[in-house]
Amino acid sequence: MYTAPAEGPVTLSRLEHMKRAGEKIVALTAYDASFARLVDAAGVDLVLVGDSLGNVIQGHASTLPVSMDDMAYHCRAVARGLARAFFVADMPFASYPDPVTAFRNAARLMGEGGAAMVKLEGAGPVRDAIRYLSDRDIPVCAHLGLTPQSVHALGGYKVQGKGAEAADRMRRAAGEVVASGARLLVLECVPAELASELTQTLPIPTIGIGAGAGCDGQVLVVYDMLGITPGKRPRFSHDFLAGRGSARDAVLAYAEQVRRREFPTAAHAY
Ligand code: KIV
Repeated sequence: MYTAPAEGPVTLSRLEHMKRAGEKIVALTAYDASFARLVDAAGVDLVLVGDSLGNVIQGHASTLPVSMDDMAYHCRAVARGLARAFFVADMPFASYPDPVTAFRNAARLMGEGGAAMVKLEGAGPVRDAIRYLSDRDIPVCAHLGLTPQSVHALGGYKVQGKGAEAADRMRRAAGEVVASGARLLVLECVPAELASELTQTLPIPTIGIGAGAGCDGQVLVVYDMLGITPGKRPRFSHDFLAGRGSARDAVLAYAEQVRRREFPTAAHAY
């Protein structure tokens, strides 16, 4: 049974403290008020309104069709369900082509949608937007590795950072996003060894998905970890509802296994 710690709602400083203290950060996606309430009450530290809603809610083959209106709608719903968890919202495809447009869209997800932080995929040209937002007190979560908005440029949903050159590129990209002001970093489908090295060398918390057990925290798409998503389950996910009686028990088991370092195992990593 999860008992909420006395310190109240999770803040960015609390997540930074958790990294320093070696306490695992438990994260899940949510897209509506009911799931937000469920995962929040189960003690999940960070809730992400991911643009994965394009896949799991809207039924698209990628996240590319997700619009700012879609994100704002789902953020408003999730905000009504949260009492404790730190709330991160994805900036959808093509919503941050330049710093000023990024600011306008990020401000909408925070002001109208209730998010405390926005997530942007990539480094390189995205650095200017990260810096512009950070300088204006909009906390930014960066996202490296398999960045689904770049699926066509990447040639599919593949592990990133494999091999010496690719690993070096990712080290540089991680350094860039941190220097630009990012305060959290999602690492998706990155070899476990590299993700672990980045976690140890970077000053900001890392949240892994398909990035092994060495990250500061773990995130999964809630429909994947409940076994709802049709088709082949990604290697890095696990059906926590199987053998349990309720979605609540599944989320509690996920949170406990992440905190006890029992999930992910080597079988979930690359
Ligand atoms: O959109 C999403 O759900 C995400 C997570 C997979 C990290 O970006």
